[in-house]
Amino acid sequence: MTDLPKITFAKADPPKKKGVAIVLAGDGGALGPRGRALDDATEGAIRRAIKAAAFKGKRKSTLDLFAPANLSLDRILIVGLGDPEKAAAVDWMELGGTCVTKLTGDVPEAVVLAELPNGSDIPADSLAQFATGAKLAAYRFDKYKTNKKDEDQAPKIGKLVISAANHNPARRAFAALDAVSDGTLLARDLVNEPANNLGPQDFAERARELTRLGVEVQVLDVRAMRRLGMGALLAVAQGAEREPRLVVMRWNGGRTRSRPAAFIGKGVVFDTGGISIKPGANMEDMKGDMAGAATVVGLMHALAKRKAKANVVGVVGLVENMPDGKAYRPGDILTAMSGKTIEVINTDAEGRLVLADALTYVQREIKPAFMVNLATLTGAIIIALGHQHAGLFANDDELADRLLSAGTKTGEKVWRMPLAEEYDKLIDSKFADMKNAGGRAAGAISAAQFLKRFVDETPWAHLDIAGTGMASPQTAINKSWASGFGVRLLDRLVAEHYER
Ligand code: BES
Ligand code: MN
Ligand code: ZN
Repeated sequence: MTDLPKITFAKADPPKKKGVAIVLAGDGGALGPRGRALDDATEGAIRRAIKAAAFKGKRKSTLDLFAPANLSLDRILIVGLGDPEKAAAVDWMELGGTCVTKLTGDVPEAVVLAELPNGSDIPADSLAQFATGAKLAAYRFDKYKTNKKDEDQAPKIGKLVISAANHNPARRAFAALDAVSDGTLLARDLVNEPANNLGPQDFAERARELTRLGVEVQVLDVRAMRRLGMGALLAVAQGAEREPRLVVMRWNGGRTRSRPAAFIGKGVVFDTGGISIKPGANMEDMKGDMAGAATVVGLMHALAKRKAKANVVGVVGLVENMPDGKAYRPGDILTAMSGKTIEVINTDAEGRLVLADALTYVQREIKPAFMVNLATLTGAIIIALGHQHAGLFANDDELADRLLSAGTKTGEKVWRMPLAEEYDKLIDSKFADMKNAGGRAAGAISAAQFLKRFVDETPWAHLDIAGTGMASPQTAINKSWASGFGVRLLDRLVAEHYER
C-alpha cells in the first residue's frame, strides 16, 4: 500500500513554511477563532474568498486558497462542517476523508485547525473519527506501479496534524479506531492483490501472520478436509493446480467459558466459473472473490490489535475455481460435510459450496453463540442493491437488527432481504437433496436459502458483499477498488454487543 500520512494530535499552529492549513467552516461559512486569526494574517483573504465563491459551509463542500499573500503556506483549504450539532460519527469520518481527498501533489505537512465556529472543542471521539477517515482516504494500492508519479494524482502527504486543545483524549480515542482502520486496509490489500500472487496457500500464510498479534491460527490442508468429509469445498477446488486450505483463527480475549462469536468468509482466490465458465468481460474482477475471507482476516486483525474483550473465531475457506480435466462438472452429485447431497447445476455457483462446509465445520467444532458469514456470493445482489448496501439474510431478528444498526453507525450499510419457504423450493433437486443453483429469479435469495440448509439452530446471518466489497464506488473514505467492507461493521457489532 501507499505511504500513509503520519497522523498526529497536538496543539499546533498552521505550518510556518510549505504546507497546508485546513480551516473548518460552519453554516454560512462561519469561522472559529483560529480561522479568524488566520484570516487576519492574510488580511481578510479567507473571508473574501468565502464571499466571492458564495461558500455556504455545507458539509463536505470545500474552497481553496492557493499561495495566500503574506504567508509562506502553499494552500489554505476551507472545509464545510454544516451544522456540527447534527454531524454523526460517519460524518466526521467523511470530513476527514474529504480533507485528504482534496489535497494534491507534495504536502510535507497539513495542519487541521480543529475547532467549532463558536470556538469550542470538537469532541475527542469525533476527532478520532475524522483522523480515521483521513487515513482510509489516503490508501492507494499502487505496489505494482513502477512510476508512482503517474498515479491518479494521489497526494503525497507527509504529516497530518490535527490541532486541538483536547489533543490528548483525541489521541487515545484514535488508538482503538486505528486498529480497526488497519484491519480495513489489510482487507483492501488482500482483495486488491492479483490471484497470481495470492493463491489459497499464500492467503493462508497472510492469515498466519496474525499469530504475531496473539491470534491462534490453524491451517487445514486437503487431507484434513478429506477426513472431515468436506466434499462440497473440495469439489470446487479439484480443478485447480493450487490446493485449497481452510484457516481457523481464534482470538481469546473474552471470559474463558463464554462461547465465541464466529465469522466465516468465502475465499475464492479466483473464480473463472469453472466448467460453466464466465464470459470474458470483467472476469479480472474475480480476483476479488475472496473479499469475504479478506474481511474476516481484517476483522481478526482489528480485534486482536485493539485487544477486544471477546472470544471470536474466524474461519475462511480458500479455493480457486478453475476449469480443467480434473474439474467438477454440472450434474455431479456431491456429499457435503453435513451429509447432505448436492446436485451441481452450475460450477459457477461455487461460493455456496465452499461456505456450506465451512458453516458445518463451525457449528460442529466451534459451537458459536452466533455466526455471520460474508461472501461475494451473487451478481444478483448487485442488481438488487447496487454498490450501496450489502444484502443481509438472517434466521434471527435480533442479530439482523444489530447488524442493521451497526451498519447505520459505521456507514457500512446492510439491507435485509427475505428468507422463506417458497424460495427454498427453488433449490430442490430431482436427483439429490438440493441443487446448487436456483435460476435467475431471486438469485441472491436462493443462494441464501442454500446456505440456510446448512445452518442448525445457531443464530446466523449471511452478508452478500458482491456489490460492496469490490469494484467499490469512490467515496470520501475510499479511493481503492477494494473497500474492505465489513471490518468496521463487524468490529462495531462485537464492540456493542459482545464485549465484557
Ligand atoms: N463470485 C460470483 C458472484 C459475483 C459476481 C461476485 C459479480 C462479484 C461480482 C459467484 O460465484 C457467481 O458466479 N455467482 C453466480 C451464481 C449463479 C451461477 C447461480 C451469479 O451470480 O451469476
Ligand atoms: Mn462463481
Ligand atoms: Zn464466486
